[in-house]
Amino acid sequence: MSPISIKTKEEIEKMRIAGRLAVDVLNMITPYVKAGVKTEELDRLCHDYIVNVQQAYPAPLNYKNFPKSICTSVNHQVCHAVPGEKKLKNGDIMNIDITVVKNGYHGDTSRMFIIGKPSIRAKRLVEIAYECLWIGIHQVKPGVDLSVVGKAIQRYVESKKCSVVQEYCGHGIGYKFHEEPEVLHYFDPKSKKNKNILLKPGMTFTIEPMINAGKREIKLLPDQWTVVTKDHSLSAQWEHTILVTEESFEVLTLGEGEEVFCP
Ligand code: MF3
Ligand code: CO
Ligand code: CO
Repeated sequence: MSPISIKTKEEIEKMRIAGRLAVDVLNMITPYVKAGVKTEELDRLCHDYIVNVQQAYPAPLNYKNFPKSICTSVNHQVCHAVPGEKKLKNGDIMNIDITVVKNGYHGDTSRMFIIGKPSIRAKRLVEIAYECLWIGIHQVKPGVDLSVVGKAIQRYVESKKCSVVQEYCGHGIGYKFHEEPEVLHYFDPKSKKNKNILLKPGMTFTIEPMINAGKREIKLLPDQWTVVTKDHSLSAQWEHTILVTEESFEVLTLGEGEEVFCP
C-alpha cells in the first residue's frame, strides 16, 4: 500500500486547473441533456470537447478497458454506467461523471441531471444526495480523522430513510486517477477498510456518496461496469474533488462563480 501523497504547491495548481476543466465539461453538456438524447451522444460531445477544446484527456477512456469517456448512470444505475443507445426520457434522473487529465493531473466531479419533470421521490433523492456530499465536505480540516466524513454522510442519509452504497468509495486523486486513501461514505468500526487516517494539508481526494432510495445492496451487470441497485430502487450521486488546506478545505471542482454550499 502506497502512502497518502501530499501535493506540492505546483501540483495543487495543476489540480486546480484539472478540476476546473472537469466542471467546465458538466456545464458545457448541460443544455444537451434532454429527453430523446442518447447517452452515447452525450459521451461523444464530452469526448470531443475535452480532447479538442480543452486539449486534455478523458481519464475513463480505456481505464481498465472502460470503453467510453464519461459515465452516465440513469435511475436505478448507481455508477459506472457505460453510455449507449438508450434515450433519456421525461422524469429520468441521471448522473454524469467526468474525469479530466491535464498536464498529468486529474479532476473528478459528477452531478445529477433531472430530465423534464421528476417524481417527488426522485427529486427528493437527488437533493439528499447533494446535501450529504456537502455535509461530508464540511467535515474536512487538518487533524480530523477521515472516518468523520463517512460518519456524517451516513447519519444524514439514514435520517432521511435512504441508504449509502458501501462497495464503492471516494479516493485519493492527483497524478493517479485512484490512489490512497479510500474515502468511505459510511462508518463501520469492524470493517477492514476503516483505517485511522488524520487529514493533513496538501491531501487531495474525492467525496462521492452513492445514495439509494431503497436498500443499499447493489449488483454488477454482465458488461462488468454498470452498477445497479439490487431492488431496482433509484440511486443518486454527486462528486467533488477536495484539497485539505491549512484551515479547512478547498473544493477543486467548483465552476466559475460557483460557491461552497452550506447545508
Ligand atoms: N469517475 C469515477 C470515479 O468517480 C470512476 C470512473 S472509472 C470508469 O471514481 F472507468 F468507470 F470510468
Ligand atoms: Co467520478
Ligand atoms: Co471519483
